[in-house]
Amino acid sequence: MLLDDVAEILITEEQIRQRTRELAQEISRDYEGQDLLLVCVLKGGVVFLVDLMRELTIPHSVDFMATSSYGASTESSGVVRILKDLDAPIEGRNVLIVEDIIDTGHTLDYLTRILRERNPASLRICTLLNKQERREVDIPIDYIGFNIPNKFVIGYGLDFDELYRNLAFVGVLKPELYEPQT
Ligand code: IMP
Ligand code: MG
Repeated sequence: MLLDDVAEILITEEQIRQRTRELAQEISRDYEGQDLLLVCVLKGGVVFLVDLMRELTIPHSVDFMATSSYGASTESSGVVRILKDLDAPIEGRNVLIVEDIIDTGHTLDYLTRILRERNPASLRICTLLNKQERREVDIPIDYIGFNIPNKFVIGYGLDFDELYRNLAFVGVLKPELYEPQT
């Protein structure tokens, strides 16, 4: 059973639902009367994206991007590669990046630099989770769901070795199941 691999539930399904609704209300207010494009970073961000967009009360479109960092599984190397680019240009559009988690910050640092070169009208970031303790690059985040401690988390889109994304909550994986970060 997947649940047997979970050491601790960090954020419950209900807490996520409540916080997502609050963020969606804030975003709906901030972009009222304006064009809005949500850019979701695959794959981890999708579960948050679909719940967030269903709580938005303003018109918006979505697009997807996939990145991968070279190197070990639970450690971000800081070198990011684009696996899938956006379908459409973003010039003149209000872009809101929707992410599952910001850890070292390297992925979003790279992504925002690429997207800014395409001259969007605005570029902001919304992340479900923020691991501030691990930050190596300073990233201004506009919307944060939860600040979490420095633990490897799974569920609600987040994976370990491509598994556990379907869990309805955010949990901590039993340490014996993954290689400790070095
Ligand atoms: P960053 O570049 O270090 O900010 O992290 C980029 C990516 O690492 C995130 O988008 C996640 O895909 C992954 N990641 C970081 N921390 C965790 C975690 O605790 N659980 C699962 N994935 C994580
Ligand atoms: Mg991600």
